[in-house]
Amino acid sequence: MTSQGGNSLLQDGQVFSLQNALIYCNPTEVKMSQMVLPCHANHQGELSMGQLLKWIDTTACLSAEKHAGCSCVTASMDDIHIEHTIRHLQVKPAWHQHDKDTVCVGHVVNIKAKVNRAFNSSMEVGIQVSCENLFQGKEWNVCKAFATFVASKQGTEKIRLKPFEPYTQEEQVEYSIAAERRRMRLAHAETIKALLLKSAVQEECNQSETVNVVPAEKTRVESVELVLPPHANHQGYTFGGQIMAWMENVATIAASRLCNSYATLRTIDMFHFRGPSQVGDRLVLKAIVNSAFKNSMEVGVCAHAYREGSEDSLRHLNSAFMTFIVLDKEGQPITLPQIKPEPGDGVRRYNEANARKKLRLDRKYIISCKQTEVPLSVPWDPCNQVYLSYNNVSALKMLAAKRNWVLDSEKNKVKLSTLEDGQFLSFKIEMEVPLEASTIFLILSDLTRRTEWDPHYQKCEVIQKVNDDDTIYHLITPSVKEGSKFQDFVLLASRRKPCAAGDPFVIAFRSVTLPTHLATSEYTRGEVQCAGFSILQQEDSQTKVTYYNQASPEVLPYITTDIAGLSSGYYTTFESCLKYIERNKNNITLFMQEHKL
Ligand code: COA
Ligand code: ADP
Repeated sequence: MTSQGGNSLLQDGQVFSLQNALIYCNPTEVKMSQMVLPCHANHQGELSMGQLLKWIDTTACLSAEKHAGCSCVTASMDDIHIEHTIRHLQVKPAWHQHDKDTVCVGHVVNIKAKVNRAFNSSMEVGIQVSCENLFQGKEWNVCKAFATFVASKQGTEKIRLKPFEPYTQEEQVEYSIAAERRRMRLAHAETIKALLLKSAVQEECNQSETVNVVPAEKTRVESVELVLPPHANHQGYTFGGQIMAWMENVATIAASRLCNSYATLRTIDMFHFRGPSQVGDRLVLKAIVNSAFKNSMEVGVCAHAYREGSEDSLRHLNSAFMTFIVLDKEGQPITLPQIKPEPGDGVRRYNEANARKKLRLDRKYIISCKQTEVPLSVPWDPCNQVYLSYNNVSALKMLAAKRNWVLDSEKNKVKLSTLEDGQFLSFKIEMEVPLEASTIFLILSDLTRRTEWDPHYQKCEVIQKVNDDDTIYHLITPSVKEGSKFQDFVLLASRRKPCAAGDPFVIAFRSVTLPTHLATSEYTRGEVQCAGFSILQQEDSQTKVTYYNQASPEVLPYITTDIAGLSSGYYTTFESCLKYIERNKNNITLFMQEHKL
């Protein structure tokens, strides 16, 4: 990047300089601002969520197409949590006093979308939605979403997208974590299937006869839509956002029928568009309340397409699960009646909705919470494994992407740096190793052998090999304080190979709780919030190995004297790590067998 001074545009509009100050502008960013008009609102004057989904999808699609340079279709949309609260029940325009977070007629909705990463033919687009009250000069967040778009094939040829190169620190973090989100997305269908299989043993649904019980049948909705040109792109393919809006419409009707009161959409679970639809298709949308909990309900909705005069049967486009609440006059969620499912499919869906509720809560808890809000040790179970593994790797990637690391000490090219970030003090140790990154990755992957080079590892055993990439270990370390009990840790280790050239190999560690390995009086239970290795192949056949640790009280005493420059224990440990790698470099078939690589 070069600065030429003055007000000039450089590098395809990415970076321009305004009075010599360089300003960066993401080349894929697209912004949309919409005034909420009565035609966009429900009977309460509030923005209809279906309309918002259409705007989100259009903005995101235009951003994807800006990167792809060709037309794109919506492949999937991750969970959407609507953060705003809707509290009032009268139709009031925006210049009247409204509760602060309501999006209603007269407000402006601002949507920003940008590509986070391009994979092969697909891209992840990040979308941020905020609402602006022009009369009060206020702006607040409404929701954040991630959508995947696929470049439309040219003939039968799949499009190979050019890579997206992140520039700012925020873009680098999103780029890096996008690979994790993709992994979770592609595993979603399997995760749900496994969970539902587990819940299938529950045949009965327990219901008390005394309370208000509504037959599910009362909430059933079926509606048809004809796809016209305004609902489709220039190639005649129906916009994903339009289908989502139609689905939201029938789901809202089903939800509102449960208690004869207007229902408010809170979340939409991750979903996938299975196949395209075109102008001229008839879309059949069906919805029913699957289960009602205390204050919320799950509505399931499916969309099928057919062509008039065609012999082809209905095509399944999409199924989505949405959570609704119903608010009283004070804006508080009301207690919902129980639902009486229909026998057969109804009972199955009721049980599955209850199982999905747990998954939804786990996902929200583990993925969307700020790191400081998630307890150190989250209980591990097979259903939340994918999310814990995501959280484990993405926390390490976020720590690695931080810019304000300060070099504290260096000895024989082994560098110790620290990062002060709010309440956390993190450190990283970097060294260059003259070996292939893949070899080092294999050798460092086996945590049970860390006792061979790290004096802080007294004993380390595998508790459970979860899958090829994730293993849970029990680790015992000596105490820092003389005469104190040894410490033990239950650690989830998640390993990742690079998703593309330039990505590092990653081995991430975080504490988890296992009912079979609770804390005992023999050891003091320690916790690791975020630690691990990043192993990056350099051009000169050297590999940069970096060990990160977001220092918890258990680890800090080991390193503080090094940070203060009073000792170089870190150097001795990593010199010993280097020797261990050297000793084992010709032994990697053993590690490969062990780790199925
Ligand atoms: N979430 C996110 N991405 C997904 C996905 C999901 N659930 N399922 C597949 N993909 C991605 C794949 O990872 C792959 O990405 P890559 O090329 O970057 O590696 C890409 O989609 C193509 O996958 P592939 O397996 O080759 O094709 P497919 O047969 O699974 O088709 C779609 C995927 C999205 C193209 C296809 O399902 C489709 O046409 N859906 C309808 C899209 C549409 O018209 N949407 C608008 C509303 S109907
Ligand atoms: P599943 O039945 O496994 O939930 P489907 O894709 O068939 O998956 O349906 C998704 C959701 O759509 C269902 O959970 C249900 O809530 C709703 N649904 C499906 N079929 C109907 C129908 N005939 N009438 C009303 N709602 C339906």
